[in-house]
Amino acid sequence: MSRFPFPIPHGWFGLCFSHELAVGEVKKVTLAGRDLVVFRTESGKAAVLDNYCPHLGAPLHQGCVVGESVRCPFHHWQFNGEGECTDVPYAKKIPTRAVAETIPLQEVNGMVMGWHHPEGREPYFELPRVDGLNGEDKWNELEYMQLQLPTCVQEIGENDVDQAHFTYLHRMPAFSETETIIDGPIKNSVSNMDMPDDFLADAVADAHGARHQLERTSYGPGVTVVHGTGFQSIKSGEMGEFILLNIATPIDDTTTVLRWSMGVSKNIADEDDLGPSILYGFKTGVEDDIPVWKEKIYRANPVLCDGDGPINKHRKWIQQFYDMKAR
Ligand code: FES
Ligand SMILES: [Fe+2]
Repeated sequence: MSRFPFPIPHGWFGLCFSHELAVGEVKKVTLAGRDLVVFRTESGKAAVLDNYCPHLGAPLHQGCVVGESVRCPFHHWQFNGEGECTDVPYAKKIPTRAVAETIPLQEVNGMVMGWHHPEGREPYFELPRVDGLNGEDKWNELEYMQLQLPTCVQEIGENDVDQAHFTYLHRMPAFSETETIIDGPIKNSVSNMDMPDDFLADAVADAHGARHQLERTSYGPGVTVVHGTGFQSIKSGEMGEFILLNIATPIDDTTTVLRWSMGVSKNIADEDDLGPSILYGFKTGVEDDIPVWKEKIYRANPVLCDGDGPINKHRKWIQQFYDMKAR
């Protein structure tokens, strides 16, 4: 019995970081309880198939890439990224049923993304191409983080709009009211953050005007882009920015893999109290949530107060991704 009274939602989720999948590499990944094989063909295309060979069920991730196909270790049948069998080395005719199942895949923002829908429906919303995650000149080198968390994707998304916990659990500056706007599968929340005097070094706090804005945009339940602005450089007075791509991938009902790609603009990257502190703050912050996520239960009718943030709005929004007939 799951701790959560809802199924795994549909949407775009992460299979692996692009940099973890070199040409010729083959990997087993799990998405929503299903084992998949991801591989990068010799021409550099990422591909994903059901991990178990349609022939006699051998694990394809133990095979290798040959040209544009993955070759099963057991009898060397080969399958391309569309799941078509491209070779059976000892048969005169390839059986028509020799097709490996696949799921829609997109590679963008340095992530190999897969679409999960339990009824096999096609993707009906796009993934954004995010400025800062595709080698643009303004940004410093990205940092990456991957964590396995003992909770579900809904709870991770709820954390973003739970504005009071930032102050009390994470000891972060207070947010002003978080505003959330919903447009179908897209959810946009904007928070203004007031920095207390003791949060940053004095010189930095003075220079800052102590007010930043964090905009979080979710594309379905698995993808959130966090864009921070208003970080003023003490050296140049220029405004710095922060970017975080947060991909939450359901492994099973109560396990989620969180993958973060994050960076700051070059103009604040080497100011210790600014660029590195922002990155450090985000990285260590998520660790505060883990013990709570591990044991907390889901309250269907929570007692909320003003100042709690748009928690019910988030819950209402995410419902659409449990509708298995959707689109
Ligand atoms: S089980 Fe894969 S080729 Fe036979
Ligand atoms: Fe949190």
